[in-house]
Amino acid sequence: HFYVAIMAGGIGSRFWPYSRTDYPKQFLDILNTGKSLLQWTYERFSQFIPRENIFVVTHQHYIGKVQEQLPDVVVDNIVPEPFRKNTAPCIAYISHKIYGQDPKANIICAPADHLIMDATAFTSTCLNALMFVQKHSALVTLGIKPTRPDTGYGYIQFETQQVADNVYPVKTFTEKPNLELARTFIQSGDFLWNAGIFVWNVKTILAALKTYLPEVDELFEQYSSALNTPEEKKAIETIYPQCTNISIDYGIMEKADNVYVIPANFGWSDLGTWASAYENLERDDSGNAIQGKNVMMIDATNCMVRAPHDKLLVLQGLDEFIVVDTNDVLLICRKDHEQQIKEYVAEVKRNK
Ligand code: GDD
Ligand code: MG
Repeated sequence: HFYVAIMAGGIGSRFWPYSRTDYPKQFLDILNTGKSLLQWTYERFSQFIPRENIFVVTHQHYIGKVQEQLPDVVVDNIVPEPFRKNTAPCIAYISHKIYGQDPKANIICAPADHLIMDATAFTSTCLNALMFVQKHSALVTLGIKPTRPDTGYGYIQFETQQVADNVYPVKTFTEKPNLELARTFIQSGDFLWNAGIFVWNVKTILAALKTYLPEVDELFEQYSSALNTPEEKKAIETIYPQCTNISIDYGIMEKADNVYVIPANFGWSDLGTWASAYENLERDDSGNAIQGKNVMMIDATNCMVRAPHDKLLVLQGLDEFIVVDTNDVLLICRKDHEQQIKEYVAEVKRNK
């Protein structure tokens, strides 16, 4: 009764211009590994979840890309959404759908776009979580030891007494705190980052949805007999426009009282930005991480360069810059300004 739902519907705009609305981060091979983040994610889960129990939920626009990148996935398990409504509706949908197939399912809901170094440790952490939720009405999340007051994450405060092997009750869950609060959390030392990888029994998550997001749950409940039938698409097209746009973190994890955390140590990065890619790439003696065949660096240091074209690129004198060349866009941006890349993308779109 072990399942995984890979959530692959996000946009990942901070990797612009490499990532596009048409080609978001999960479909890219940010670190030049030969496989996209989605492909690595699928491969990790296929080590311990049977093929027929692996689902991929994504915006309908990306269905072709998922099929192309994951030819192994059962076609009916690629689940299209007509709108981007964030992770809570995505989870409500897949939970109701899987419940219709197996009311005893234990499900991992996981992002499609993270970097995980140690697949063996990852497997054993996930199996530990799955065993736990099989027996307990628990919403389990995996926790990562934080390294900086990043405001893009959820922060988890937990009890020090474990209730099962490496499983701790969560005291507070704070999604995307402001910088001041994030600093306080980091300084206090007893917080973990939420990895965004959730594990629960299908009955437990359905009960939580009913309690904390009743308006979302009711929509799916109302049409649940249409799921897993030829009527599913029509039902989903009726449900989604009415669905609240909210993440599972704000919608449930911050509010529920049966949240547990498993501290994890498998080399995790959410690869959120170019600088985080830079941190995970090999660098030359001048600290440059270069992806490209024809790049010449002169007195340039600590740069992240991606230029996969035949065209020769010569960089002189740059320090701490991101340089990304694509067919139609060349981005040259200071590393410490990369959080603003999102805004440049919005600006480019406005001026189009
Ligand atoms: N199918 C589907 N539909 N997938 C979605 C949607 C949607 O509408 N929106 C987002 N996703 C996918 C993304 O592609 C990603 O794989 C995952 O769900 C998480 O969404 P993000 O948008 O990347 O969330 P986040 O990074 O801001 O925050 C979450 O992850 C952090 C760790 O990386 C939260 O769970 C934080 O608490 C957590 O710390
Ligand atoms: Mg993310």
